[in-house]
Amino acid sequence: MNAGPGRRTVLRAAGAVAVTTPLLSACGGSSGSSGAATTGPDGAVRLDVGGMAVGESRYYRDARVILTRSSESDYVVFDQTCPHQGCAVSEVKEGKLLCPCHGSYFDPVSGDPVHGPAATALTVVPSSLEGTEIVLRG
Ligand code: FES
Repeated sequence: MNAGPGRRTVLRAAGAVAVTTPLLSACGGSSGSSGAATTGPDGAVRLDVGGMAVGESRYYRDARVILTRSSESDYVVFDQTCPHQGCAVSEVKEGKLLCPCHGSYFDPVSGDPVHGPAATALTVVPSSLEGTEIVLRG
């Protein structure tokens, strides 16, 4: 359950332009880098994925998502909300997505838990690639 403002509300409140925080850590096949999220005139949230390597994951704090480039042409976006108790899955460690609250790890491509206490997968956010941007559809 999410009682806070939605992704679009947060981005609009920030003046329609929001910058993500740098990825907190990465290793084991993933590399860390920062990106940017914006809200277009159509209200869609857009994530800059320019220069992102295959296997890399990025956390977009203001958009409340974490994104992985899973192949040359494929990306997957997950809602940041940890299925355990709702903290933000905001880090990458040893090639896995990490929830820092209680140490759950998730597969960066499937979103499945690989180490508990979380027992269910992250929620995929529908998205599409347009140029060097991922457009969130959810
Ligand atoms: S809220 Fe993520 S591991 Fe507990």
